[in-house]
Amino acid sequence: MTILVTGGAGYIGSHTCIELLNQGHKVVVVDNLVNSHSESLQRVEELTGKNIPFYAVDLSNEAEITKVFSEHSIEAVIHFAGLKAVGESVKQPIRYYDNNIRSTLVLCKLMQSFSVKHLVFSSSATVYGLAESNPIPETAPLSATNPYGRTKLFIEYILNDWITTFDGASVALLRYFNPVGAHASGRIGEDPQGIPNNLMPYITQVAAVRREKLSIFGNDYDTVDGTGVRDYIHVVDLAMGHVKALDALIHLTGSHVYNLGTGNGTSVLELVQAFQQATGQPIPYEISARRPGDVATCFADSSKAERELNWKAVRGIVEMCRDSWKWQKENPNGYK
Ligand code: NAD
Ligand code: UFG
Repeated sequence: MTILVTGGAGYIGSHTCIELLNQGHKVVVVDNLVNSHSESLQRVEELTGKNIPFYAVDLSNEAEITKVFSEHSIEAVIHFAGLKAVGESVKQPIRYYDNNIRSTLVLCKLMQSFSVKHLVFSSSATVYGLAESNPIPETAPLSATNPYGRTKLFIEYILNDWITTFDGASVALLRYFNPVGAHASGRIGEDPQGIPNNLMPYITQVAAVRREKLSIFGNDYDTVDGTGVRDYIHVVDLAMGHVKALDALIHLTGSHVYNLGTGNGTSVLELVQAFQQATGQPIPYEISARRPGDVATCFADSSKAERELNWKAVRGIVEMCRDSWKWQKENPNGYK
């Protein structure tokens, strides 16, 4: 199949392009490079030996995106494009609503006019808000605590409405837990701009002595050691989840939601420990105040994806740490 991958130059998108190409699909990428480098796609081409038609345009630019649909026989779309920094979304809510929602509306409109019937959407565990219990199933109540989360929630509602008007079409809403790790080659990985917000890239930068020490946000949560517990998932497992979702969507109609996580919770201190063991790098840390908006624990019930998509995450914490570190070590300045 020919798959349009929006946001394909980004972290999860670039890893998914590799898995799609390895499965024999053709890939076309649209990405405005607001949070990525085209170098990632060149490296995907090197790793796979395949060519990727690339459009460096904004997904909300209807005229440009019409051209993309006209020039390729697109059969399905995987939609990663979006802004994703929680803190930034609080400061720039209109930018987030405009970018994430408007681009999705343009995409839906063009998919329908070009009769492209299958869409995989990057949602997030953030749509569970402050979940009351763990593991979290897809049926848990939905809410959002910041503008970024609300864009994910609103887009889920929009896609659910849209799909009922599009005969024979199907959409998969994939709610990711905490993606970490990198391709085993060390050639592609996460390349955050400025100071990383997320734990794993911060740890790898401390290991590389780019940052002095890690601040652990709170050690008084009701968890195994007082630090926050999350469901870290290797980005290559996550990428495979998209391929499996696409395989399933071809035979489905309507909207289908799946959690993509491992089902295992790991605390901040456990992750730090695992990283030190896996890489031999010391991670100095201090305990600081809780980060506003953080929940104590968040991990997935991913049994639906296992049952219905025949997908399961297979890479463990050690592999996640080792691959994150290999990427950081071999690309100290990311793609620059
Ligand atoms: P990323 O920033 O690396 O990738 C997103 C890509 O979209 C970037 O390459 C960016 O340049 C591009 N983009 C943004 N707005 C665009 C627009 N209007 N037009 C064209 N391109 C645009 O982020 P990622 O970690 O790869 O995340 C991919 C998707 O998964 C995002 O939608 C994100 O919200 C979602 N998600 C990420 C995480 C995470 O922790 N990484 C967790 C849950 C969900
Ligand atoms: N943490 C620290 N120090 C840091 C960074 C994080 O102690 O420097 C802690 C946090 O308090 C939390 C854990 O590490 O307990 C994980 O934090 P991340 O920022 O890596 O991840 P979050 O679970 O907060 O959020 C991520 C994405 C969200 C997404 C969510 C669920 O950033 O966008 O996963 O998918 F919604």
